Amino acid sequence: MAAIRETWNSRTAFVLAAIGSAIGLGNIWRFPYITYENGGGAFLVAYFICLFLAGIPLLMLEFSIGHKFHQAAPGSFKKISPRLEWFGWFAAGVGFIIVTYYAIIMAWSVNYTYEAATLGWVQEEGEYADVQYAIAQTDLEDMEVLIEVPDSLLGRSFVSPVSADQGIISDDPEDSEMYGTILVAFDGHLYGFNSVDEATTFMGSPADFFFNDFLGVTSSPWDIGKFKWPLFIGFTLAWIWIVASVWKGTKTVSKVVYFTVLIPWGLLLLFVIRGLTLSGAGSGIEFYLTPIWSKLMSAKIWLAAVSQVFFSLSVGFAIMIAYGSFLPKKTNIAANAMIIGIADALTAFFGGLAVFSALGHHASSLGVPVSQVVSSGPGLAFVAYPHIITTLPAARIFGVLFFLMLLTLAVDSAFSLLEAVTASVKDKWRTSHRKANLIVGISAFLLGIPMLTGMGIHILDIADHFMNSFGLTLVVLGEVLIIGWGTGAEEQRQYINKNSSFNIGLWWNICIRWIIPMGILWMIFTEIQERAVPYGSFGLRSQEFLFGWLLIILLPIIGDILASVSGKKEPE
Ligand code: PHE
Repeated sequence: MAAIRETWNSRTAFVLAAIGSAIGLGNIWRFPYITYENGGGAFLVAYFICLFLAGIPLLMLEFSIGHKFHQAAPGSFKKISPRLEWFGWFAAGVGFIIVTYYAIIMAWSVNYTYEAATLGWVQEEGEYADVQYAIAQTDLEDMEVLIEVPDSLLGRSFVSPVSADQGIISDDPEDSEMYGTILVAFDGHLYGFNSVDEATTFMGSPADFFFNDFLGVTSSPWDIGKFKWPLFIGFTLAWIWIVASVWKGTKTVSKVVYFTVLIPWGLLLLFVIRGLTLSGAGSGIEFYLTPIWSKLMSAKIWLAAVSQVFFSLSVGFAIMIAYGSFLPKKTNIAANAMIIGIADALTAFFGGLAVFSALGHHASSLGVPVSQVVSSGPGLAFVAYPHIITTLPAARIFGVLFFLMLLTLAVDSAFSLLEAVTASVKDKWRTSHRKANLIVGISAFLLGIPMLTGMGIHILDIADHFMNSFGLTLVVLGEVLIIGWGTGAEEQRQYINKNSSFNIGLWWNICIRWIIPMGILWMIFTEIQERAVPYGSFGLRSQEFLFGWLLIILLPIIGDILASVSGKKEPE
C-alpha cells in the first residue's frame, strides 16, 4: 500500500505548483525591502550569484531527496539515518514559524484590498495642516527641550535618531527659520524636512497611513499597543483561504495554481510599466541597478542575499522535498529546477522594478535621495505600491486587483508551507490529511494573533530576520553536509541525472560540498561577530536577540522530541 502516494496531475501542474510555492510575497514584498535595506544594486549582484551557485543546485537537491525517498522531510531524513529525523522536523519547524507571520502579511493584503477600493491611504488634503510637526536642532552641544512635542505627534510612534532629549523641539513654525528642520515621525524614526510644506506632504502619505493609522505601530517590540480588530478579520479570512486551498491535497493544488500563478504575472507587468513611466522613476531605478561594488565585501549583504534566495525558492524548508515526494516516477528534476529558479528570480526582479520606480517618484517629489525616502523594513511594499496605485487611472480597480494578485501569489506559497508541515505530521502519525491540516493550521493561526497588535511588525521583523538568516541557512547547511558529505554528492548527482533530460556536471558536487557550506559558515560567523550593530529600523537590542536565538535553539530541540516519540507504522 505504501507505494500509493498522491502524485501531481501532470508535469505542468507540478512545475506550476512548485513555481506557485516559490513565487509569493517573497518576490513582491520581501525582495524589494531586503534590496532596499542592503543598498540596491550591489545586493542584486549578490542575489544572482547566490541564485546560481546555491539556490538552483539546492532546488535540484531537494527535489531529488523527496523523489528518491518518497517522504516529506522528516521521513526522508529518517530513511537516510534514523538519527536524522529530528533534522527534518527542524526544517519543518522553520517553515511553521514562517507561515505564522506569512499569514500576517496576507492579512495586511486582505485589508489593503479594501483600502484600495476606498483609496483609504489617500488622506484629505489639509487634514494634517495643523501642528503635526516640530522643529528641531540637533547639533547643539547644549541640548535642552524648549517645548513639548504636540500630542498629535507623540501619539505617533518614534524611536528617533533625534529625540526630545537630544535636541530642541518646538512646535512654532517660526522657529524653523532659526533651527532649520521640521521633524516628522513615522515608522519608528523622526524625519527632518526643510519646510512645513514638505512635512505636510509627507504626513498623510501612504507611509503615514500604513504605520500609524493601519498598524498603529508602537516604538518597540515590548510595547504591545492596540489590538487591531480589522486586521483580525483579514487574518481570519486569509487563513480560511489557505486551508481551503489545500483541503484536498495535491489534487486541488493542481487546479488552483493555474489561477494563482498566471494571472498575477500579467498584472505585475502592468505595474512595472506604470511605475517606470512615473516622473522621477529614474532615480529609483538607478539606485536599484547601480552596484556599489565595495559593498560586496561585507558578509551581511551575502547573508541577506543567500537567505532571500532560499526564502524565495522555498528551499531549506522541507517544502520542495515534500513536493518532490509527490512527483511521478518519470520526471525531469534538473530542468524543472532551472525553470523554477529563473522564473522566480525574474518575478522578484520585476517586483523590484515596480517598487524602486515608485520610490524614485516619491523621492523626487520630496526632494530627498532614494536611500532616505522611506525607512526600510517589512512595510515597504505597503507604502510603495499604494503610491503607484494612486497615480493610475481607475486607481481603485487596479488597487483592488493588485492586492488580490498579491493574495493569489501568497496563498499557494502559504499552503505549500502548511503542506510541508502537514505532510510530515501525516507521514508520521498516519492522520488523515484534513485532520493534520486543521491541527497545523489552527496552531499557526493562534501563534499569529499577537502579531495583530501595534508591536506586530516588530515581532514579524525579528522572526523574519532570524528564521531566514539563521534558521534557513542552518537547515541548508545540514542538508548539504548530510548529502554532500554523508550519503555522497556524487551518488545524488547520478540520481538526478538519471531522472533528467540533461546531465548536470561535476560543478554541482562542488557547489553542494564546498561553496554552499563554506559560504554559509563564513557568513554566519562574520555576522554573529558584527552583530554589535543594531538590527532593523528600531535598533535591535539584546532582549530581541535573545528572543530570536531562542526561536532558533528551540526548534531542533522540539524536532528531537518529535523524532523520539513513535509514530504509526506504515501498513504492510
Ligand atoms: N517562496 C515563498 C515566497 O517567496 C515563501 C515560501 C517560503 C513559501 C518557504 C514556502 C516555503 O513568498
